[in-house]
Amino acid sequence: MSQTTVQSGLSGPQYEAWLGYHVALPEAKGATRTRTAAPLWSRHIDVKEQHLVIDTALTELKQGLGKLYGEQPVIRHSQTQSTDSDEQRKPSIRVGTWAGNNQVTSAFTEAERAAVQGEGFIIREHESLQEMVIGSETPQGVLYAVFHLLRELTLKQGKSEEAGPALDGVKPLFITEQPVNQLRMINQWDNVDGSIERGYAGRSIFYENGEFTQDLGRIRDYARLLASTGINAISINNVNVHKQESLFLTERYLGDVAKVAAEFRAYGIRLFLCANYASPIEVGGLQTADPLDDQVREWWNVQTAKVYAAIPDFGGYVIKADSENRPGPFTYNRDHADGANMLAEALRPFGGLVIWRCFVYDCKQDWRDRTTDRARAAYDHFKPLDGRFADNVILQIKNGPMDFQVREAVSPLFGAMENTNQVIEFQITQEYTGQQRHLAYLVPQWKEILDFDTYAKGKGSEIKRIADGSLFQRQYSGFAAVSNIGADASWTGHPLAQANLYGYGRLGWNPELSAEAIADEWVRLTFGHDEQVVERVTGMLLSSLDIYENYTAPLGVGWMVNPDHHYGPNVDGYEYSKWGTYHFADCHGIGVDRTVKSGTGYTSQYHAENAARYESLETCPDELILFFHHVPYTHVLHSGKTVIQHIYDTHFEGAAQAEALLETWRELEGKVDPVIFNKVATLQEEQADHAKEWRDMINTYFYRKSGIQDEQARKIY
Ligand code: GCU
Repeated sequence: MSQTTVQSGLSGPQYEAWLGYHVALPEAKGATRTRTAAPLWSRHIDVKEQHLVIDTALTELKQGLGKLYGEQPVIRHSQTQSTDSDEQRKPSIRVGTWAGNNQVTSAFTEAERAAVQGEGFIIREHESLQEMVIGSETPQGVLYAVFHLLRELTLKQGKSEEAGPALDGVKPLFITEQPVNQLRMINQWDNVDGSIERGYAGRSIFYENGEFTQDLGRIRDYARLLASTGINAISINNVNVHKQESLFLTERYLGDVAKVAAEFRAYGIRLFLCANYASPIEVGGLQTADPLDDQVREWWNVQTAKVYAAIPDFGGYVIKADSENRPGPFTYNRDHADGANMLAEALRPFGGLVIWRCFVYDCKQDWRDRTTDRARAAYDHFKPLDGRFADNVILQIKNGPMDFQVREAVSPLFGAMENTNQVIEFQITQEYTGQQRHLAYLVPQWKEILDFDTYAKGKGSEIKRIADGSLFQRQYSGFAAVSNIGADASWTGHPLAQANLYGYGRLGWNPELSAEAIADEWVRLTFGHDEQVVERVTGMLLSSLDIYENYTAPLGVGWMVNPDHHYGPNVDGYEYSKWGTYHFADCHGIGVDRTVKSGTGYTSQYHAENAARYESLETCPDELILFFHHVPYTHVLHSGKTVIQHIYDTHFEGAAQAEALLETWRELEGKVDPVIFNKVATLQEEQADHAKEWRDMINTYFYRKSGIQDEQARKIY
């Protein structure tokens, strides 16, 4: 496999994903594949530095350009800071950091360099078109620049079949990029037995039967995919840390963890572990895990030092504590600040971070009790602790107060904690959005959440400005998300679900990118530039989440899925359970009253503007009406429809739309890779069928509850 950067034995378009570097003309047009002429600079790469990540960048650049232009450039290494002008005049790409390469540095003005820091970068093509320069303050920035350049070049291939040496035939390239979010993290929910919690793309690529995988190449290929989108951190085990994974911090597994860390390090990605809060007991043989106990603190100090001895750039611990039966500080009558700060102390000498999850609620609730509201829980637990967390603690807050539903309100915790570092947590894996058997492009949802104005500091206090740390001027901030990959040859089970992984990375880098632009990029990078393919697949992606919402749980009510595995319709699946996930449908109406006036008071957790908007039936947006209010089926929405008619209409429409997705895909036969074509076709068939099941169950349930006929007298059972 020396011809390719791909390390694992797997190959083919579905495995290469968006890094196939497609050339100008798609084969399906009947034309032979032609390449745009290679720019002069593309024949040589000049570099002066020796650095692991720069080496990775060079390999990527060499192989990417090779695929794009048919010939791999020659890498010329020179350790000296050459001033030889002959040498400087040779066409080439110069690659390096400010500190390590004077030729790169001098290609930019001081002001240009000052405009990018850390992982930011500048790319400039010289007017003569004979030289390209890639520079950054850091090796990571150089790597991101290389991936960015290759992406731009690939996208340009689609725009101009005739393009000459200059990228678009005319203008030299000048790009300045700075990542908006500091931490851009992926959370694997993989278990050491090889299973993946909420994984829908096969077994783990990390573990097998209680051991770490021997196939480090596959892990490296994954690191490569992640880095190409801008990801810079990963936690490699499930937030639910069981007995065996608790040993990851010990000699039993540390050597293996270090090997995996090395694969990610080469791509500029820092490795984190999820740790079991009760490790001092489970692993250390102590009687307690009380965060204020001296022995416990010492145990964490010693163990953490061992982790750093094995992995000097270890990122830190991700912690799920006092959540869904996981141990935590509550057992000892301590709060979450006590718990997190103890770990922060152990990590501080090494520059490590504690990422502490806020998914804390009562999962043993009595369904008869209508005053307890799970949606309130994170705010009620954490808001009072604002300002008490150590400076190397980051709270990880799920995007919504419930649990990654297709539609729910945003978490009011965003905007409530000015004095605490925080990252937003998304779920790329499609637990509640069709489990990678249904198509659901999630970027539009994430955009909507990021653009939500919390009013924490008046108008313009969007969640994206809290996530990026700017609103509250926080030291640490960013994005985290649950991965959607597994051992499947397409990584994501449904090949089009790759767009979610790609989109998450791109959005973490720059939340201003639109869902449309990201979809267009992904489709072109993955499938090439046939305009019919681009138009059809982006259309499918961009409509998919609305379609999914149409035939599943209506108007923000959530759940209505089968318990445990969460696939498929079951309106009362969670209604009489302990999980705090209810819709309260009876013969009169449906929805959860979360108002201050007559309900759980949850609306008061938002800043005044949003609190008022949600509190009032007049101003509450339709799509969240059942999340905030209990209303009769005859309640008239802003759309002019009654709630019951909305349910019927969206469910009939959604099922028809799911059918149409399949038809659209079928039009692409012969135009996309046949393996991908068949895989997606099979999945879209399942979705179209399954959407009917959703439609009929939901409609029938509400027809029977309400006794109200569909205005259009369609078939309801
Ligand atoms: C959801 C999911 C669990 C997961 C939990 C979490 O509840 O169903 O599998 O452990 O979220 O985020 O911790």
